[in-house]
Amino acid sequence: MPISRIVTALSQHGYCVVSRFFFAESAELRATLLQAWQTGGLTRAAVGQGPARQVRDAVRGDYVRWLEPSADPAIQSYFQAMETLRVAINRELFMGLFDYEAHFALYPPGAFYQKHRDGFVGDKRRKVSCVLYLNDDWQPHQGGALRLYTPAGNIDISPQAGTLACFLSDDMWHEVLPATRERLSITGWFKIRGV
Ligand code: OGA
Ligand code: MN
Repeated sequence: MPISRIVTALSQHGYCVVSRFFFAESAELRATLLQAWQTGGLTRAAVGQGPARQVRDAVRGDYVRWLEPSADPAIQSYFQAMETLRVAINRELFMGLFDYEAHFALYPPGAFYQKHRDGFVGDKRRKVSCVLYLNDDWQPHQGGALRLYTPAGNIDISPQAGTLACFLSDDMWHEVLPATRERLSITGWFKIRGV
């Protein structure tokens, strides 16, 4: 799907799902993520910000590692793809997206992320959420869908390697359903400048 169609879908529906958006290097990204996981390089994700920040098993069960754009070639190339998307969104939708931040995420079997939106209380800089999935040969019976609560009904997205899900961070309620196998992804946000 060309970038302009992604941007149009995002503005018309508040979300867009693209299979094989970033497929060629997804095996490399998966290997890098698993390597970090096996060497203790991921930490339990928290919810909230500042003094309100805490790990809450009942809300989310994933492990994360923030990414440096300068890391390995596959990560660099993913940041470049996101930069192209950022510029296209700004050109078409005048959103003033300024920055991008992203982390690896790993959900162990059974882990989930309850229904939520991505803005923090008091910090609405996150405007567009983008999730790239890294799971080889994901089967529907394994669970782990990203469920988007759109005005037109619920959409379940299978976390298949190479698939990109993007949506408006302020508006879109969403949740991660538990899976029977490890679920790997890169989750990132385009942000506007702080006020
Ligand atoms: C998140 C999130 C969705 C997914 O990390 O905020 O909603 O499909 N992730 O992993
Ligand atoms: Mn989210």
